[in-house]
Amino acid sequence: MITLRLNGQDTPVDVTPDTPLLWVLRDVLGLTGTKFGCGIAQCGACTVHIDGKAARACVTPVGAIGEASVTTIEGVSGDTLADAVMKAWVDIDVVQCGYCQPGQIMAAIALLRGSPNPTDAQIDTAMSGNICRCGAYVRIRAAIHNAAAAGA
Ligand code: FES
Ligand code: FES
Repeated sequence: MITLRLNGQDTPVDVTPDTPLLWVLRDVLGLTGTKFGCGIAQCGACTVHIDGKAARACVTPVGAIGEASVTTIEGVSGDTLADAVMKAWVDIDVVQCGYCQPGQIMAAIALLRGSPNPTDAQIDTAMSGNICRCGAYVRIRAAIHNAAAAGA
């Protein structure tokens, strides 16, 4: 049994330590907001926060998380920065098919937490690991600037 600090709650899960966090979130806990894309840390669909930093859940064994706090897209609302990012996403109408978007939003929140007013280059670098097959990159960048301007 492993206990995760997940979205602010201690969450026991009966899995082996080498089980990837993404499988635990989606298949054990039913938190399906975090998406499976590639499974090999190449697409960003599974991005969550571990102690506030963006992390790839598909390649993170639950046994390696220890006491760190895990936050998923289901757990971010109510945070001022996260709410500003999600508002900007709606205002800009970023989403096309939506599949990549939880990961994009989690990556954007992590970026703005470290760089409250990022340049285009900083955004492109920070978001480069998050693939959008619909090509919403220009709107994603605009939404990040909007969130930053709103004082996120
Ligand atoms: S599913 Fe984790 S990076 Fe693609
Ligand atoms: S909105 Fe469709 S993959 Fe990004």
